[in-house]
Amino acid sequence: MDKKYKGVIFDLDGVLVFTDHFHYLAWKKLADEEGIYFDEKINDRLRGVSRMDSLDIILERSQKTYTSQEKAALAERKNEYYKSYLTKMTPEDVKEETRKTLEELKNRGYKLAIGSSSKNTKFILNQVHLTSMFLAISDGTNIVRSKPDPEVFLKAALFIQEKPADCLIMEDAFAGIEAGKRGGFKTIAIGQATKDEEADYKVQEFKEILNFLPPLI
Ligand code: G6P
Ligand code: MG
Repeated sequence: MDKKYKGVIFDLDGVLVFTDHFHYLAWKKLADEEGIYFDEKINDRLRGVSRMDSLDIILERSQKTYTSQEKAALAERKNEYYKSYLTKMTPEDVKEETRKTLEELKNRGYKLAIGSSSKNTKFILNQVHLTSMFLAISDGTNIVRSKPDPEVFLKAALFIQEKPADCLIMEDAFAGIEAGKRGGFKTIAIGQATKDEEADYKVQEFKEILNFLPPLI
Protein backbone atom coordinates (compact mmCIF):
# COMPACT_ATOMS: atom_id res chain seq x y z
CA MET A 1 0.00 0.00 0.00
CA ASP A 2 1.59 3.31 -1.07
CA LYS A 3 -0.86 5.69 0.56
CA LYS A 4 0.24 6.84 4.05
CA TYR A 5 -2.60 7.70 6.38
CA LYS A 6 -2.22 9.97 9.40
CA GLY A 7 -5.43 9.34 11.27
CA VAL A 8 -7.70 6.38 11.95
CA ILE A 9 -11.35 6.91 12.82
CA PHE A 10 -13.16 4.01 14.48
CA ASP A 11 -16.82 3.30 14.68
CA LEU A 12 -17.62 2.08 18.21
CA ASP A 13 -20.54 -0.41 18.31
CA GLY A 14 -19.54 -3.59 16.48
CA VAL A 15 -15.91 -2.52 15.98
CA LEU A 16 -14.38 -1.83 19.40
CA VAL A 17 -17.18 -3.15 21.61
CA PHE A 18 -20.06 -5.51 20.98
CA THR A 19 -23.08 -3.60 22.18
CA ASP A 20 -25.16 -4.66 19.14
CA HIS A 21 -26.81 -7.42 21.11
CA PHE A 22 -27.74 -5.00 23.91
CA HIS A 23 -29.32 -2.71 21.31
CA TYR A 24 -31.24 -5.70 20.00
CA LEU A 25 -32.46 -6.78 23.46
CA ALA A 26 -33.54 -3.26 24.36
CA TRP A 27 -35.42 -2.67 21.07
CA LYS A 28 -36.95 -6.14 21.31
CA LYS A 29 -38.32 -5.43 24.81
CA LEU A 30 -39.79 -2.14 23.61
CA ALA A 31 -41.25 -3.68 20.45
CA ASP A 32 -42.79 -6.57 22.44
CA GLU A 33 -44.36 -4.13 24.89
CA GLU A 34 -45.84 -2.16 21.99
CA GLY A 35 -46.96 -5.30 20.14
CA ILE A 36 -44.70 -4.61 17.16
CA TYR A 37 -42.95 -7.40 15.26
CA PHE A 38 -39.15 -7.17 15.52
CA ASP A 39 -36.37 -9.64 14.77
CA GLU A 40 -32.58 -9.89 14.31
CA LYS A 41 -32.91 -9.21 10.59
CA ILE A 42 -34.65 -5.88 11.20
CA ASN A 43 -32.02 -5.21 13.88
CA ASP A 44 -29.30 -5.49 11.22
CA ARG A 45 -30.80 -2.47 9.49
CA LEU A 46 -30.26 -0.43 12.67
CA ARG A 47 -26.47 -0.77 12.63
CA GLY A 48 -24.88 2.69 12.53
CA VAL A 49 -28.30 4.35 12.36
CA SER A 50 -29.27 6.98 14.98
CA ARG A 51 -31.72 6.21 17.79
CA MET A 52 -34.64 8.15 16.26
CA ASP A 53 -34.03 6.80 12.74
CA SER A 54 -33.85 3.28 14.24
CA LEU A 55 -37.21 3.85 15.94
CA ASP A 56 -38.74 4.90 12.61
CA ILE A 57 -37.54 1.62 11.08
CA ILE A 58 -39.13 -0.35 13.95
CA LEU A 59 -42.39 1.58 13.66
CA GLU A 60 -42.70 0.60 9.96
CA ARG A 61 -44.27 -2.60 11.36
CA SER A 62 -46.71 -0.80 13.63
CA GLN A 63 -50.41 -0.27 12.84
CA LYS A 64 -50.52 2.76 15.10
CA THR A 65 -49.39 6.30 14.24
CA TYR A 66 -47.29 7.80 16.99
CA THR A 67 -46.98 11.54 17.69
CA SER A 68 -43.49 12.99 17.91
CA GLN A 69 -43.86 13.22 21.70
CA GLU A 70 -44.83 9.56 21.89
CA LYS A 71 -41.86 8.69 19.70
CA ALA A 72 -39.49 10.65 21.92
CA ALA A 73 -40.86 8.75 24.94
CA LEU A 74 -40.38 5.39 23.19
CA ALA A 75 -36.79 6.24 22.29
CA GLU A 76 -36.13 7.33 25.86
CA ARG A 77 -37.61 4.09 27.19
CA LYS A 78 -35.45 2.01 24.85
CA ASN A 79 -32.40 3.94 26.00
CA GLU A 80 -33.20 3.18 29.64
CA TYR A 81 -33.32 -0.54 28.82
CA TYR A 82 -30.12 -0.25 26.80
CA LYS A 83 -28.28 1.66 29.54
CA SER A 84 -29.12 -1.00 32.10
CA TYR A 85 -26.90 -3.32 30.00
CA LEU A 86 -24.20 -0.69 29.51
CA THR A 87 -23.77 -0.12 33.24
CA LYS A 88 -22.71 -3.76 33.52
CA MET A 89 -19.89 -3.35 30.98
CA THR A 90 -16.30 -3.53 32.25
CA PRO A 91 -12.81 -3.25 30.68
CA GLU A 92 -13.04 -6.98 30.04
CA ASP A 93 -15.62 -6.26 27.36
CA VAL A 94 -12.79 -5.04 25.12
CA LYS A 95 -10.70 -7.78 23.55
CA GLU A 96 -7.03 -7.82 24.50
CA GLU A 97 -6.29 -7.86 20.76
CA THR A 98 -8.24 -4.61 20.29
CA ARG A 99 -6.49 -2.83 23.16
CA LYS A 100 -3.03 -3.94 22.00
CA THR A 101 -3.73 -2.95 18.38
CA LEU A 102 -4.88 0.53 19.43
CA GLU A 103 -1.73 0.94 21.57
CA GLU A 104 0.42 -0.17 18.65
CA LEU A 105 -1.25 2.29 16.27
CA LYS A 106 -0.57 5.10 18.74
CA ASN A 107 3.06 3.99 19.01
CA ARG A 108 3.24 3.98 15.23
CA GLY A 109 2.30 7.67 15.25
CA TYR A 110 -1.35 7.60 14.18
CA LYS A 111 -3.96 10.00 15.50
CA LEU A 112 -6.91 7.92 16.70
CA ALA A 113 -10.50 9.13 16.86
CA ILE A 114 -14.01 7.81 17.33
CA GLY A 115 -16.80 8.39 14.81
CA SER A 116 -20.01 6.90 16.23
CA SER A 117 -23.70 7.78 15.87
CA SER A 118 -24.26 6.79 19.48
CA LYS A 119 -25.11 9.36 22.12
CA ASN A 120 -23.86 6.83 24.68
CA THR A 121 -20.33 6.80 23.21
CA LYS A 122 -18.55 8.59 26.06
CA PHE A 123 -20.38 6.52 28.66
CA ILE A 124 -19.37 3.27 26.94
CA LEU A 125 -15.73 4.33 26.47
CA ASN A 126 -15.53 5.19 30.18
CA GLN A 127 -17.10 1.89 31.22
CA VAL A 128 -14.49 -0.09 29.27
CA HIS A 129 -11.60 2.28 30.05
CA LEU A 130 -10.83 3.22 26.44
CA THR A 131 -11.34 7.00 26.59
CA SER A 132 -7.64 7.86 26.92
CA MET A 133 -6.78 6.00 23.70
CA PHE A 134 -8.44 8.63 21.53
CA LEU A 135 -7.37 12.10 20.63
CA ALA A 136 -10.95 13.03 19.71
CA ILE A 137 -14.47 11.71 19.99
CA SER A 138 -17.12 12.58 17.42
CA ASP A 139 -20.47 11.04 18.31
CA GLY A 140 -24.25 11.32 18.26
CA THR A 141 -24.07 14.40 20.50
CA ASN A 142 -22.22 16.57 17.96
CA ILE A 143 -24.10 15.78 14.75
CA VAL A 144 -27.47 16.54 13.21
CA ARG A 145 -27.41 13.88 10.49
CA SER A 146 -26.48 10.28 11.23
CA LYS A 147 -24.72 7.75 8.95
CA PRO A 148 -24.91 7.23 5.96
CA ASP A 149 -24.38 11.00 6.08
CA PRO A 150 -20.63 11.63 6.52
CA GLU A 151 -21.06 14.36 9.18
CA VAL A 152 -19.82 12.30 12.15
CA PHE A 153 -16.60 11.34 10.32
CA LEU A 154 -16.01 14.82 8.87
CA LYS A 155 -16.26 16.21 12.42
CA ALA A 156 -13.83 13.56 13.69
CA ALA A 157 -11.32 14.51 10.96
CA LEU A 158 -11.76 18.16 11.87
CA PHE A 159 -11.20 17.40 15.57
CA ILE A 160 -7.89 15.65 14.82
CA GLN A 161 -7.02 18.31 12.21
CA GLU A 162 -6.53 15.93 9.30
CA LYS A 163 -8.06 15.87 5.83
CA PRO A 164 -10.52 13.04 5.06
CA ALA A 165 -8.13 11.74 2.38
CA ASP A 166 -5.50 11.24 5.12
CA CYS A 167 -7.79 9.25 7.41
CA LEU A 168 -8.93 5.65 7.33
CA ILE A 169 -12.37 4.72 8.66
CA MET A 170 -13.04 1.38 10.32
CA GLU A 171 -16.66 0.24 10.19
CA ASP A 172 -18.92 -2.77 10.67
CA ALA A 173 -22.03 -1.15 9.13
CA PHE A 174 -23.04 -0.65 5.50
CA ALA A 175 -24.33 2.80 6.51
CA GLY A 176 -20.87 3.56 7.91
CA ILE A 177 -19.00 2.46 4.79
CA GLU A 178 -21.31 4.66 2.71
CA ALA A 179 -20.76 7.58 5.10
CA GLY A 180 -16.99 7.14 4.82
CA LYS A 181 -17.08 7.07 1.05
CA ARG A 182 -19.37 10.09 0.83
CA GLY A 183 -16.98 11.99 3.09
CA GLY A 184 -13.97 11.27 0.88
CA PHE A 185 -12.37 8.73 3.25
CA LYS A 186 -10.96 5.28 2.55
CA THR A 187 -12.72 2.55 4.54
CA ILE A 188 -11.79 -0.72 6.22
CA ALA A 189 -14.67 -3.13 6.81
CA ILE A 190 -14.96 -5.68 9.60
CA GLY A 191 -17.88 -7.98 10.53
CA GLN A 192 -21.10 -7.50 8.54
CA ALA A 193 -19.60 -4.71 6.43
CA THR A 194 -17.11 -7.14 4.83
CA LYS A 195 -20.03 -8.10 2.57
CA ASP A 196 -20.05 -4.53 1.25
CA GLU A 197 -18.44 -4.20 -2.19
CA GLU A 198 -17.95 -0.49 -1.55
CA ALA A 199 -15.39 -1.03 1.24
CA ASP A 200 -11.77 -0.32 0.22
CA TYR A 201 -10.22 -2.92 2.53
CA LYS A 202 -11.61 -5.84 4.50
CA VAL A 203 -10.37 -7.61 7.63
CA GLN A 204 -11.58 -10.64 9.53
CA GLU A 205 -9.61 -9.85 12.71
CA PHE A 206 -9.14 -6.43 14.29
CA LYS A 207 -5.34 -6.70 14.45
CA GLU A 208 -5.13 -7.09 10.66
CA ILE A 209 -5.57 -3.31 10.33
CA LEU A 210 -1.90 -3.04 11.30
CA ASN A 211 -1.09 -4.42 7.83
CA PHE A 212 -2.53 -1.26 6.28
CA LEU A 213 -0.94 1.14 8.73
CA PRO A 214 2.86 0.97 8.84
CA PRO A 215 4.89 2.99 11.39
CA LEU A 216 4.90 6.75 10.68
CA ILE A 217 7.63 7.49 13.20
C1 G6P B 1 -24.61 3.05 16.81
C2 G6P B 1 -25.30 1.71 16.67
C3 G6P B 1 -26.74 1.89 16.30
C4 G6P B 1 -27.43 2.83 17.27
C5 G6P B 1 -26.74 4.18 17.24
C6 G6P B 1 -27.34 5.18 18.22
O1 G6P B 1 -24.38 3.60 15.55
O2 G6P B 1 -24.66 0.93 15.68
O3 G6P B 1 -27.38 0.63 16.30
O4 G6P B 1 -28.80 2.99 16.94
O5 G6P B 1 -25.36 3.98 17.59
O6 G6P B 1 -27.09 4.75 19.53
P1 G6P B 1 -27.58 5.45 20.86
O7 G6P B 1 -26.65 4.89 21.90
O8 G6P B 1 -27.40 6.94 20.70
O9 G6P B 1 -28.99 5.08 21.06
MG1 MG C 1 -21.09 -0.12 14.22
